Amino acid sequence: MYRVVEIEEIIKETPTIKTFFFRDETQPSPGQFYMIWLPGVDEFPMSISYIGERKAFSVKLVGEGTRKMHSLSEGDRLWIRGPYGRGFVEKNKKALFVGGGSGMATLAPLIERMRGDVVIAARTKEELLFKRRFKNRRVYIATDDGSEGFRGFAHELVERLLEENEYEIIYTCGPELMMRKLIDIAIERGLDIQASLERLMKCGIGICDSCSINGYRVCVDGPVFEKDILIEMSDLGRYTRDRAGRRVPL
Ligand SMILES: Cc1cc2nc3c(=O)[nH]c(=O)nc-3n(C[C@H](O)[C@H](O)[C@H](O)COP(=O)(O)OP(=O)(O)OC[C@H]3O[C@@H](n4cnc5c(N)ncnc54)[C@H](O)[C@@H]3O)c2cc1C
Ligand code: FES
Repeated sequence: MYRVVEIEEIIKETPTIKTFFFRDETQPSPGQFYMIWLPGVDEFPMSISYIGERKAFSVKLVGEGTRKMHSLSEGDRLWIRGPYGRGFVEKNKKALFVGGGSGMATLAPLIERMRGDVVIAARTKEELLFKRRFKNRRVYIATDDGSEGFRGFAHELVERLLEENEYEIIYTCGPELMMRKLIDIAIERGLDIQASLERLMKCGIGICDSCSINGYRVCVDGPVFEKDILIEMSDLGRYTRDRAGRRVPL
């Protein structure tokens, strides 16, 4: 079930994120993910960040697997399986896209297919991902340290934007606490919301239960969840699961 793909081009996006372009026959939809296997190292889930004839993963350096990935060169090979999971549902509503850190990798193909304003957030300006990728639309920047754009957290900027704009839906991916805040804002203001969630994954296909959150398996029931289910997820932003599957505070 694995396919071998060759890395065609690597782009260093930020000090910690690189984009790896490759060619593959599969037809993923925005928000879906693949499992990347680096033999002898690790296997991990990665969203598709470019969809088309040339596809890509945009990978943040986090631990052992992603460090190995960052050490690869053009011409090296990846073992992949997928696409897996449920992606975003495109709705005909006035949209605001909110991506934090590497979460922009997951949102970017959706943004390119839809209309709507974009919030790109990161800790510092160096870590802003894809700030020049989207043409002919309003892109708002937020940085925690104020080095570019709005100084503060993404949800604080969103609250300001909601005072001046009649958005009907928020599409988001990023740090869990950011998404928790956005879900609370959406509930309070009666907006629709879809969020792409992350949990440790092993099988990626619904067998091992390592990715479960409040009875939902992120790999097959998600990773993108709609508002009616997000509302039920009391663990979101509060508890995650460790490698042994234990429920631990975030
Ligand atoms: C559906 C999905 C899509 C993803 N898409 C992207 C993407 O497009 N770009 C990107 O950079 N990253 C993405 N990730 C996160 C990525 O899978 C992890 O960063 C990666 O598995 C880390 O592997 P590692 O071996 O380098 O780190 P490890 O050594 O395995 O882990 C390092 C640290 O990160 C934590 N961690 C690992 N995986 C996860 C996870 N899934 N959720 C929360 N914490 C985790 C570990 O507990 C540990 O503390 C995605 C995750 C999921 C579930
Ligand atoms: S990763 Fe195994 S059930 Fe989701």
